[in-house]
Amino acid sequence: MRPTLTDASDLDSQDPLADFKAHFALPEGVLYLDGNSLGAQPRAAREALDATRDQWRDALVGGWNQGWFDAPERLGDLLAPLIGARAGEVLVSDSITLNLFKLLGYITERQGRARTVILSEGGNFPADGYIAEGFCRSAGFTHCFLPEGAPLEAHLDAQVAVVVLSQVNYRTGQLRDMAETTRRVHASGAEVIWDLAHSAGALAVDLAGSEVRYAVGCTYKYLNAAARGHPAFCMSVAMPSRQAGSRSPAGMVMPTPSPSTPTMPQPTG
Ligand SMILES: Cc1ncc(COP(=O)(O)O)c(C=O)c1O
Repeated sequence: MRPTLTDASDLDSQDPLADFKAHFALPEGVLYLDGNSLGAQPRAAREALDATRDQWRDALVGGWNQGWFDAPERLGDLLAPLIGARAGEVLVSDSITLNLFKLLGYITERQGRARTVILSEGGNFPADGYIAEGFCRSAGFTHCFLPEGAPLEAHLDAQVAVVVLSQVNYRTGQLRDMAETTRRVHASGAEVIWDLAHSAGALAVDLAGSEVRYAVGCTYKYLNAAARGHPAFCMSVAMPSRQAGSRSPAGMVMPTPSPSTPTMPQPTG
């Protein structure tokens, strides 16, 4: 039997989240189904932005000591429960692409560069592949694509250092079994970075329960935090900038340049 408008209205009237729509400032008459690209603006956002603009005007450089400097950590701790991470494991900063680059550098350094291949899924969002490729070229690693639909195990050999996967595919909506896949990648001796752009805020994500050690994602889709680009987030079980007590908000260990990487000429005189 085909559902009718009355069926839909009945379901709406029983929806415990129905009133939640009122928290968003959507233009009159718009049915917005594009939250997977850019979330709608929460009504509270305007007030928060105005307050920040006033703070900038009044506090000037002193604003850094009024919560700006610690914002990546503070927001990371607020976000952590939504993705099943623990306090201290998440930083809100930069873009997904930059966070991926930083994590690739951090992980491969931790591994002592013992493995040489970064494997990313062919069906990932293109920027994930571009940055993996760029990282490999600048740091002397080899980038391989896992063909769409190919079994991961067949490609997990002793050279694979890191695998970059999406929990929910941005194009097909395919949901990966994060816990099982993480277990398999770890068993092969590699690490996995999960891209949560299309799952954080859209479904229950359990990073700790899935024993995930590294993830990236954004706040501008299902977390309705801003216009696209910034801010994104980065999760690591041993967040270097936080563990070391460093005050650098998005601080990460950068990869050692490969011997073939040209170095900047040093100024003379
Ligand atoms: C799945 C996925 N990964 C990565 C990105 C790139 O994000 P950013 O612009 O924050 O680097 C996007 C952007 O829409 C995305 O959907």
